[in-house]
Amino acid sequence: MAKISIIGTGFVADLYMRSLETYPHIKILKVFDQNPARLSMFTKFWNLTPASSIEELVSPANPEDRPDLILNLTNPGAHYAVSKQCLEAGRNVYSEKPLATKMEDAFDLYDIATKRGLIITSAPCSYLSEVAQTLWLAIRQQQIGTPLLVYAELDDDFITQAPYKKWLSESGAPWPYEDEFKVGCTLEHAGYYLTWLMMIFGSVKKVVAASAELVKNKIPNTEITTPDFSTATLFFESGMVARITCGIVAPHNHSLRVIGDKGILEINESWNNIAKVKIRKRFVVRRKLVNSLFARRFKIKGKTHPKVPRRGAAAMNFALGPAEVLSAIAAGHSTTHLAEFALHLNEVTLAIQNALDSTGVQLMQTRCPTLKPMPWAK
Ligand SMILES: NC(=O)c1ccc[n+]([C@@H]2O[C@H](COP(=O)([O-])OP(=O)(O)OC[C@H]3O[C@@H](n4cnc5c(N)ncnc54)[C@H](O)[C@@H]3O)[C@@H](O)[C@H]2O)c1
Repeated sequence: MAKISIIGTGFVADLYMRSLETYPHIKILKVFDQNPARLSMFTKFWNLTPASSIEELVSPANPEDRPDLILNLTNPGAHYAVSKQCLEAGRNVYSEKPLATKMEDAFDLYDIATKRGLIITSAPCSYLSEVAQTLWLAIRQQQIGTPLLVYAELDDDFITQAPYKKWLSESGAPWPYEDEFKVGCTLEHAGYYLTWLMMIFGSVKKVVAASAELVKNKIPNTEITTPDFSTATLFFESGMVARITCGIVAPHNHSLRVIGDKGILEINESWNNIAKVKIRKRFVVRRKLVNSLFARRFKIKGKTHPKVPRRGAAAMNFALGPAEVLSAIAAGHSTTHLAEFALHLNEVTLAIQNALDSTGVQLMQTRCPTLKPMPWAK
């Protein structure tokens, strides 16, 4: 059995619970939330043991009760302090995204973890999913020749006009709209494609981004100036170029297109672990260049990973990341690359988010490690 504990039992914690059900070898020791009403609701619904404080959860009197990994599912503004407290108590941490809202805090977490031989890494983990791994395999097999350009869209529709006050998680947590608007869609969502692109194309060298706040006064009498739209062009060390857009104004579009010199790879939804990967070829008919009307599906043969059905906006297994970290711990493998991956993700995401304040071109200080495909995706 692998042992975990959870801090933060809000909206996303329910999605983790359904995902963790697909990994019966992962046992949840204790859970904690600073909101006692929410903690009680969650522990009753899922039949879990509450802790009375973070200290009790990270440093239990009995060594048998020490978790192998702590999931930090608190709000982004609390990630740094909570992860730091866990690391300082000698615990490994898997944090929801972002790793930290300031880059200096992300570096601090990385330093504490590496000095102590601990793990710090962050969500999203959908790059470990069937769809992302299938895309990578198609690229490695040169199904579209040499990839040159990516268009990645993470538009979520006009969210401020959606009935978001009615959105509840399975055990009754309200969707935290105020925090979502304050944190902003870029910090919340860019990682859903950035992780895939970093895994496939490596380090981003340069970010040229712009962001804006388009819908003012999202919540009356609440000062929010976070961008609700961003667009960035990413220049990878490998020469690849990608354009990524995040927003909560334009109609829903979570598509990805990888354009190669021999065709195009297409995906229509990043939040579906089993979305189809399609290859569209281009050819010449007489004097015309034509992109085929039919796109062929590219599939991995055999079993991939445990799936969870759609809940709300996503059909994603949120436990893929924690399960990967726990298996690395059990095998005694180094996990420094996971910390480096999270650090680079954080830097690129912040560069896009903070483009409002930037002069345009931002050069990255961190680098992305080389990752290996999942064993079932070779
Ligand atoms: N809402 C979603 O659909 C969704 C999806 C994927 C990822 N996420 C990510 O998950 C994280 C949590 O989001 P959420 O939607 O569950 O938010 P939420 O507000 O519903 O839940 C967060 C919980 O953390 C608790 N908390 C905050 N600070 C704490 C602290 N210092 N100690 C203990 N508990 C603390 C809060 O009381 C709250 O119950 C965010 O990083 C978000 O980006 C959310």
